[in-house]
Amino acid sequence: MPIAKDVRLGRDVRILHPDLVNLYGCSVGDETRLGTFVEVQVGASIGARCKISSHTFICEGVSIEDEVFIGHGVMFTNDKYPRATTDGRPQGPADWTVEPTRVGKGASIGSNATILCGISIGDGATVGAGAVVTRDVPASAVVAGVPARIMPMSEEGRVDAQTMLRTGSESGVVLLRFGKDALS
Ligand SMILES: CC(C)(COP(=O)(O)OP(=O)(O)OC[C@H]1O[C@@H](n2cnc3c(N)ncnc32)[C@H](O)[C@@H]1OP(=O)(O)O)[C@@H](O)C(=O)NCCC(=O)NCCS
Repeated sequence: MPIAKDVRLGRDVRILHPDLVNLYGCSVGDETRLGTFVEVQVGASIGARCKISSHTFICEGVSIEDEVFIGHGVMFTNDKYPRATTDGRPQGPADWTVEPTRVGKGASIGSNATILCGISIGDGATVGAGAVVTRDVPASAVVAGVPARIMPMSEEGRVDAQTMLRTGSESGVVLLRFGKDALS
């Protein structure tokens, strides 16, 4: 069943292809839009006026506040050290604990980002496409790269590539592009 009976949908939620999503035990706030092939697990919550783009996975323990943009293929996680089995038998709910993640109001997460668990992404923050977020992101910060690092911003509100090069140790982008040797 693509949208289980226990899903709490707010007013005017728009799901363009209800037969091509997988929602169960979650809540979705007023006027939020969901693309195709989105999965939202039990216990996850999505606020009002959010946009969740296609192919995104929102797992148990994830809480998304109002007016958040989530790009295509964004992957959340809820177990930092996952295992299929415990002592040779398939794991059940008693064998692991969900690590919660929060995405603050008005934040924006670029396509193909991976968000490790136990993390808070601050209000209005931006996560670049393809980032792997391993730590909390301060409100209004822009982060990118693997691992994601805070990007210096110009006065015009764009990423400042010159400052980024000068202060390479702050930038996962520099590490990504040239390797750690570039900074020594
Ligand atoms: C992070 C982001 C907001 C920065 O935008 P911007 O301020 O306009 O930055 P610029 O394009 O001017 O790039 C500045 C520098 O950062 C680098 N950069 C930009 N985005 C990056 C990213 N996601 N990961 C790694 N490096 C990135 C650029 O290569 C550039 O460095 P360079 O001059 O050494 O080449 C943007 O690039 C981004 O990733 N947006 C998300 C897009 C998305 O996923 N949309 C969702 C669906 S359409």
